[in-house]
Amino acid sequence: MTTAIIGTGNIGGQVARHLVAGGEQVVLAARDESHAAALADELGPLASAASVRQAIAAADVVVLAVWLDTTKTLIAENGDLLHGKVVVDPSNPIQLDGKGGFSRTLPEGQSAASVIAGLLPDDAHLVKAFGTLGAEALASSANRKPRPAALFYATDDEAAAATVEHLIATAGFDAVKVGGLRDATRIEVAGDLHQYGGLNGNVVDADEARAAVAVAA
Ligand SMILES: NC(=O)c1ccc[n+]([C@@H]2O[C@H](COP(=O)([O-])OP(=O)(O)OC[C@H]3O[C@@H](n4cnc5c(N)ncnc54)[C@H](OP(=O)(O)O)[C@@H]3O)[C@@H](O)[C@H]2O)c1
Repeated sequence: MTTAIIGTGNIGGQVARHLVAGGEQVVLAARDESHAAALADELGPLASAASVRQAIAAADVVVLAVWLDTTKTLIAENGDLLHGKVVVDPSNPIQLDGKGGFSRTLPEGQSAASVIAGLLPDDAHLVKAFGTLGAEALASSANRKPRPAALFYATDDEAAAATVEHLIATAGFDAVKVGGLRDATRIEVAGDLHQYGGLNGNVVDADEARAAVAVAA
């Protein structure tokens, strides 16, 4: 299986590092192709760099590790290549204020995942994942001992669930399903299951994560 990671910044870079450390093949793309090439060089033979279109075309799974507005543009430009692919959305619908704060860019109750679901081809397999921790915690919590850290995901799609469970395990975390896409708000920023929402900065293990999922939002 090949995983395209579009965006090699805070989140895409860490996801790429963890997947390669776990033995997964990745193809990287960024706005500036030299950023993807530099990361591929750092990661070695399991990683390569390509244009966005080449990366998506070469992959079975596409992680859209970019800001939501960019995701919308990329789907508009590359939707023809996304038929039948598993699409992983880690985005949070926020804009930064430059002073350490942020504000939502979508109305309360509307998830970024629901927006993306409406833009993808009907036969794409969408899953919300890899966005429930801040980038620093994502970087430092892989293969945590003795209790692995949990990463939540949400999807309506069994193929996407199986694929993302494999990727989350490969990345060094325990996968915990929250529910379908309508539950994605719970794992987007400020949701009750996001590190910087109801989890108050904590990085939970799978038992703690399942107990938190069971608590109604
Ligand atoms: N940062 C966090 O703690 C965090 C936590 C959870 C979820 N998220 C979500 O993860 C997503 C990425 O956040 P981030 O912090 O990783 O952002 P970031 O560090 O700013 O990285 C954004 C990446 O997107 C790439 N990009 C921008 N426009 C592009 C285009 N047209 N085509 C291809 N690549 C493009 C950039 O390429 P260049 O390198 O060439 O500029 C860069 O690699 C966001 O949706 C965010 O809400 C972030």
